[in-house]
Parts: sequence; C-alpha cells; structure tokens
Amino acid sequence: MKSVLVVYYSQTGQLKKVLDRVCEPLKDSSRYEIDYYEIEMTKEYPFPWKKEDFFGVFPESFKQLEQPFLPPKDSILNKKYDLIILGYQVWYLTPSIPINSFLKSEIAQQLLRDTPIITISGTRNMWVMAQEKVKELLIQCKGNLVGNIALVDRNVNLVSIVTIVDWMFTGLQRKLYGIFPKPGISPEEIEDSIRFGRTIQNHLDSGDYIELQTNLVAQGAVEIRHFLVSMDKKANRLFSIWSNLILNSKAEKRSFLLKCFNVYLLVAIWLISPIVHLIHLITYPINYNKIRRDKTYFEGVK
Ligand SMILES: Cc1cc2nc3c(=O)[nH]c(=O)nc-3n(C[C@H](O)[C@H](O)[C@H](O)COP(=O)(O)O)c2cc1C
Repeated sequence: MKSVLVVYYSQTGQLKKVLDRVCEPLKDSSRYEIDYYEIEMTKEYPFPWKKEDFFGVFPESFKQLEQPFLPPKDSILNKKYDLIILGYQVWYLTPSIPINSFLKSEIAQQLLRDTPIITISGTRNMWVMAQEKVKELLIQCKGNLVGNIALVDRNVNLVSIVTIVDWMFTGLQRKLYGIFPKPGISPEEIEDSIRFGRTIQNHLDSGDYIELQTNLVAQGAVEIRHFLVSMDKKANRLFSIWSNLILNSKAEKRSFLLKCFNVYLLVAIWLISPIVHLIHLITYPINYNKIRRDKTYFEGVK
C-alpha cells in the first residue's frame, strides 16, 4: 500500500476542491492511504479580508517571515510517506505566509526529507517566481520536487485583478455587476484536474517520477505566459524595496507607508503594466530565444 500526504492551506476552499479532484484516483483505500494536513495558523488570517489586513500582510509575506501554526497529529508526523502533495497559494508573489511558515519549520524538514513532492498551486495567475521560492525551500528541507501543477484564473490579467479583489474583500465568488466573469479557477478546470491524478497514480505505482513533469505539462498542468513572468520578475525587485522600507520604518509610520504601497500598486497595475505589456509585444521577436528558454525552465521542476 502506498501512502500519500496532502499538505495544504486554503481560505476560500478553492484549492481543497482542486486537491480532492486530483486525489480522486487515489481514493481506492486498498491500494492507497491518503492523509490530509490542513495548516492552521495560531492566529488565523481573516477571510473575507479587510482592506488594511490585505495590504498589512504584504511586508511579512514578501519577506517570507514565519508565523506560528499548529502542528499535525503525531500519526502524520511519525510516518514516512511515499509521496507528499503540497497545495499552496501565492500572496504577493510569494508562497502564502501559512505555507512559507510550514516550509521553514522543523516539521517540514522531518516530513519532506528524501520524499517525492508534487506542488499544486491555485492562484490568480502570477505564480512563477513564488514557485522558485518554493523550490528553494524544498531544497532546504531536502525534499525531492518531482511534479508541479499550476492552476490559475484564465481571464484577462486586468479583469482577474478586479474580480479577485472583489472576491477577497466580499467573500463572494460572483459575477461582479453582472458583467464581469466569476473569479478564480473555472469549475470545468477543477473538474478536469482528475486527469493529473491519473498520471500521478501511474508514477506513484511505479515509483519512477522521471517523466512525471513532462507528462503533466503535456496534459496542460502548467501554462507559462511570458508577459506575466516578466512582470513577476520586475515586481519582485520593486516589492523588495517596498517591503524593506516598511519593515525598517518606525511602527507609527507603517500604516502610512502601507497606504503609499496601496497607491503604488494601483499605479503599477493600471498604468505601468499596460505599457510593459506593449513593450513586451514589440520586443517579442528580439527576445524570442530567451522566451523559449524561460518557458522550458519554468515548466520544469529543476
Ligand atoms: C493577500 C493576498 C495576496 C495575493 N497575491 C497574489 C499574487 O501575488 N499572485 C497571484 O497569482 N495570486 C495572488 N493572490 C490570490 C491567491 O493566490 C489565491 O488565488 C486566492 O487567495 C484564493 O486562494 P485560497 O482559497 O486557496 O486561499 C493573493 C491573495 C491574497 C489573499
């Protein structure tokens, strides 16, 4: 019998739906044993978010500062798993604080060491550099990343910003004003993610994961949109400046600086990002080779 651990955190339940669907083929209890560990924070993050809390988590989130969380049961902690599936979401281009806190803990060191790991993210669409940070943390845990599935909101970038913010601030996954599309990963895509589970099942049975990521990519597990990669990289550099500024400032200046960051984000999204997109389209032929190389790299798990 093969044992699988699913470690995850999810505020809206979207990621849990994806994980349940992916794990569906492993529900045969005579062949597989699946344990779930939902990360719970000592002090939970609110959902729906208040605006000041949403921006308030930015510096600690981006700087990957850990917060206390509740450990799993001893029965999970003391077991050696054949496969671990890590379900995560991105906060500010970085694995969310609960996931980051887990990955930096001794608990993760104990669970993930020398174990095949598949990451599954459910995000708006900017996940590529966060996955690089997850890769780094997995290396520190001596875990063995063998697969990655990145599910996103497929709507137009600027549209998904409007609709996800509405979802995060109201808790309602709705068609805003009756004209915008619903935010998040589409129900059809969640439903179809069972196909990844079947592929994972084949590799879990054989214990050979060498071709797993190639097979997952062939099934559409990862889509690299180079404009988003380029925005992600640029925004990481600027977020680094903002987070240092806020964390190094006096406590009484924090809320003022967070408001400034809020304004900066609006300008970056609505003014700068369309210009960067245009430049990206114009320079596409010149950068073609680099774009192909990036695509191959970010689709992979190395
Ligand atoms: C504070 C915060 C920051 C976020 N930042 C990003 C981001 O940088 N990139 C992205 O693609 N999605 C971002 N999202 C969306 C999340 O990755 C995720 O899709 C959403 O929170 C629902 O996830 P959950 O229900 O699994 O918790 C952010 C969400 C929150 C709450």
